[in-house]
This record gives sequence, structure tokens and C-alpha cells, in this order.
Amino acid sequence: MNDRSHDAGSLILGLAASTRRGGNSDTLLREILRGADRAGAETETIALSELNVAACIGCQRCRATGECVLIDDFQTVSRRLLEANAVVFATPVYFWNVPSTAKAFIDRNQSTGARRALARDQGVSLRPAGETALGLLVAVAADPTPKFSGLKQTVDALFRAYEITPWDEFLVTGLFEPDEAAKSKDLLERARELGTRLAEAIER
Ligand SMILES: Cc1cc2nc3c(=O)[nH]c(=O)nc-3n(C[C@H](O)[C@H](O)[C@H](O)COP(=O)(O)O)c2cc1C
Repeated sequence: MNDRSHDAGSLILGLAASTRRGGNSDTLLREILRGADRAGAETETIALSELNVAACIGCQRCRATGECVLIDDFQTVSRRLLEANAVVFATPVYFWNVPSTAKAFIDRNQSTGARRALARDQGVSLRPAGETALGLLVAVAADPTPKFSGLKQTVDALFRAYEITPWDEFLVTGLFEPDEAAKSKDLLERARELGTRLAEAIER
């Protein structure tokens, strides 16, 4: 499920949320990670639509244990999110939110929120002491007018569950066909620059 780069330093984890692989959000994510890679970061991509992640069943048993009772690819991605120094969540807009496969992953983090609350009760954080992680949201929409507020709240809640500090966002409107981002030299350049800045930010 992963495309890995070299193991040079801090880990930047890309979560690819589109069900259309190789489309606009994938392209921007790839270029962001390319820019980060050039700045010396280790990069990795996980495509959420290719995973086996069941929908949350709302049992709330995680509130007592901090663990989800459903065992599938959720646990692997969750672990990786806690290991990452930065996370790039790249998504298309589907009905003004993330695709349902990505939403299924996000919903399962009810257990992460529960784990975080339990850790807080014990005076510890989910991440190793003193470590923080930065979050970058990348979203593309076909509509020319920006209406990203629902999606932003959803991804923000995911970042909060993992104690990830929102760092920046790259919100692009007016992209419909899968190759439109790839055809825009300006977008590709901006994506690479963003990736380089992100790698520099986590090295500080
Ligand atoms: C199921 C579905 C729902 C969509 N809903 C919206 C929407 O609410 N607003 C919008 O601007 N574009 C919408 N789009 C268009 C996509 O956001 C757009 O084509 C985007 O570039 C896809 O990104 P991708 O190539 O990374 O998958 C939708 C596309 C699909 C397939």
C-alpha cells in the first residue's frame, strides 16, 4: 500500500484520499512529496481507497479501551500517523467533503480520540514526549467557487485526534478532468515549493 522514498530523516506521510488514482489530488501530493524529498525528508504515501478499512459500527467500546474492536488496515495506518513528523492529507471534494473511503478511515478514529482522552487522564500524550507533527491539507474541487468549510472541519478533526498541528493548506478550485493539475506548471511548481517548505519546517 505504500510508495516509499529514501530513509534520510523526518517522515512526511501522504494520505491519498481520492478513489481516482493518478488524478489531481494524487498529482499534487506527488509533487509536494517530491519537493520534500529534495529537501531531505523521508516520504511515504498511503492510498486510503486501496485499503481494507471497514466503517465504524458506533459500538463505542473504544471509549473504555482506546482500541477499535474492528481489526483491519486501520491499525497500520493509525500507527504510521503517530510516527510521522508531518502529514499531507490530499483529497478531492466529493459533495463538499472527502470521499467515503477516506471518511470510513476518519470515522474509525473515534478510537484515536478515545485513546487520546485516556492518555490525557494519565498525563501523557499520544506522541513521544516533546514531539509534534505538522498537518497540510490539500483539496481539489471542480467548482470554481471555494466551499471547503465542511471538508476542512473533517480533516481538522482527524489532525486533532493525532495531535497534529495544522500547518498550511493548498485548496485548488476548477479542476475536473484527472490530468488538469498535471498540465499546470504553476500548480506543480507551487506544490513542490510547499513540500520543500514543509520539510524545512519539521527540521527546525
Ligand atoms: C462523487 C463525486 C462527487 C463530487 N463532488 C464535488 C463537489 O461537491 N464539488 C466540487 O467542486 N467537485 C466535486 N467533484 C469533482 C471532483 O472534486 C474533481 O473532479 C476533482 O478534480 C477530483 O480530484 P481527483 O482527480 O484527485 O480525484 C465530485 C466528483 C465525484 C466523482
